[in-house]
Amino acid sequence: MCGIVGYIGTREAYPVILKGLKRLEYRGYDSSGVALKNEQGLKVYKKKGKVAELEESVIGIDMHAHIGIGHTRWATHGEPSDRNAHPHLSNNKKLAMIHNGIIENYAPIKQELINKGYIFHSDTDTEVLLNFIEDIQKNNECALEEALRIALKRIVGAYCILLISEDEPDTIIAARKGSPLVIGIGKGEHFLASDASPIIEYTKEVVYVNDYEIAIVKPDELILKNLGNEKQTPFITKLDMELAAIEKGGYEHFMLKEIHEQPNTIHDCLRGRLLPETGQIMMGGIENNLDALVNAQRIVIVACGTSWHAGLIAEYMIEELCRIPVEVEYSSEFRYRNPIINKGDVIIAISQSGETADTLVALERAKEQGAFIFGVVNVVGSSIARISHAGAYTHAGHEIGVASTKAFTGQLAVLSMMALKIAYAKKTITHERYIQLMNDLHAVPEKVKEILKDTSNIKAIAEKYKDAKDFLFLGRGYNFPVALEGALKLKEISYIHAEGYPAAEMKHGPIALVDENLPVVFVATKDSYYEKIVSNVQEIKARKGQVIAVATEGDTIIPGMANDVMFVPDTDEVIAPLLSTIPLQLLSYYVGIAKGIDVDKPRNLAKSVTVE
Ligand code: F6R
Repeated sequence: MCGIVGYIGTREAYPVILKGLKRLEYRGYDSSGVALKNEQGLKVYKKKGKVAELEESVIGIDMHAHIGIGHTRWATHGEPSDRNAHPHLSNNKKLAMIHNGIIENYAPIKQELINKGYIFHSDTDTEVLLNFIEDIQKNNECALEEALRIALKRIVGAYCILLISEDEPDTIIAARKGSPLVIGIGKGEHFLASDASPIIEYTKEVVYVNDYEIAIVKPDELILKNLGNEKQTPFITKLDMELAAIEKGGYEHFMLKEIHEQPNTIHDCLRGRLLPETGQIMMGGIENNLDALVNAQRIVIVACGTSWHAGLIAEYMIEELCRIPVEVEYSSEFRYRNPIINKGDVIIAISQSGETADTLVALERAKEQGAFIFGVVNVVGSSIARISHAGAYTHAGHEIGVASTKAFTGQLAVLSMMALKIAYAKKTITHERYIQLMNDLHAVPEKVKEILKDTSNIKAIAEKYKDAKDFLFLGRGYNFPVALEGALKLKEISYIHAEGYPAAEMKHGPIALVDENLPVVFVATKDSYYEKIVSNVQEIKARKGQVIAVATEGDTIIPGMANDVMFVPDTDEVIAPLLSTIPLQLLSYYVGIAKGIDVDKPRNLAKSVTVE
């Protein structure tokens, strides 16, 4: 949520920042801006809209500078507009700042500053923090770094900020709490960003800044300090990421590329872990904590959005295979309803970005209460990965499309392996079933490849229904969360209202919506609920609803009743979501495209939701 980039060194700063902002646009795209410092002073350029609009607005302007900061915004305080775009300038025009996060107690501080005569040019909390820093520096006649430290001790909320000053040459000052910051180390230059994607082509050596740390960054020096002004040793990590992974590679959209990457990403996730030939599942995070997991009295899964849907599928898997009670919670609700957490409870946090603020604060709370935290995270080194006691990465690679696709199937692959491993250790599954499910999971990448071989039928279905006002998505058992995920995907990238429901529950209310204009998507693969869902399809047909079915290859009954069908290969019902979700991702993608929507950057959304 909001992307930030900074550069200091011998290169021209603006092109580095601009390219970086384009890479970070998935984090927000309401407005963008840059502040550049050169011999003439501090200049700020900002514009409502996507980064391309900023780029266009500065054509013909001399953007020469070797120090700069840039921002792409997802609005929290103040509507998307030029005036609310970052960077902001302080009242004395000597400080420029960008911010990712929320300052919760900005209102009383703003009032104090207004009483002192400060004037605000935006509606943002960021401008309040910036002028607060200016005011502290003025009153205490101290260095900017000291003023920042004092300010940060007073504020409540989350932030990653970059600050430059006309009076402090060759320095960018940065600080973080709750919003990510990576610093790339070059030769006589430094790169700062919300994630490594703007840095990757310049250097592979990075430092992940921790919460409550301040970085004083000069071309050839990086000093890290805590809020108590004590120096911290920067821990340099080597980036394990290639430039190709963050480019479109010939696809029209990142979302389509990421859907098509799934045979490889699922394979990468299983590789070296799932060994059906020897009957082993090698997962260090589980092996080292097997007692905690096998003896857990209760597992609570916390997540948001698509990751929460993966959690619901994990609930079915873990309860069925491991016989451990599971609760699946929205992180945002879990945190604030004073949940009961007993010592020895296991919390599984699921997150693609590893930075989702709702999930992070839920975990902090659970950790304080003695819970064991297991993270299922995609982004290596992210905050959730670091706060967890143990975990397993999903290895889906960099996901850029705002709608999550390959990260979801990566989560399902990890959660299936976890459930199988715990069940086998607990002896709640027979050897035969264990081996059979391992083989079914192992076959998934090839089966996904088969689904993706020809998507023209799904594209045609999408074009047929693109003008529908509403969609209903129905499923039972393991396919119920898949229906929820299908509805979420469609809402996100086509702006069509869609609801996911358990197919049997439909008759308790939503059936009132059914008429000849309502497309109803049934996730109706061959499983133990099959006969029941056949009846549910009949109930919709009897009311003239348009049935679109995800059905198992070779099935004739469901295809015989449906108006349109998308086939997936047969597999065990525990593994089925990894396949049945793929046609729904494609359906949403093609509906979005048919409606002319920018599917990689749908309105109002951001990829990494770092505000509560
Ligand atoms: C949907 C989507 C969001 C995220 C949610 C959680 O396509 O991307 O619903 O799943 O914001 O994000 P992570 O998994 O990064 O914690």
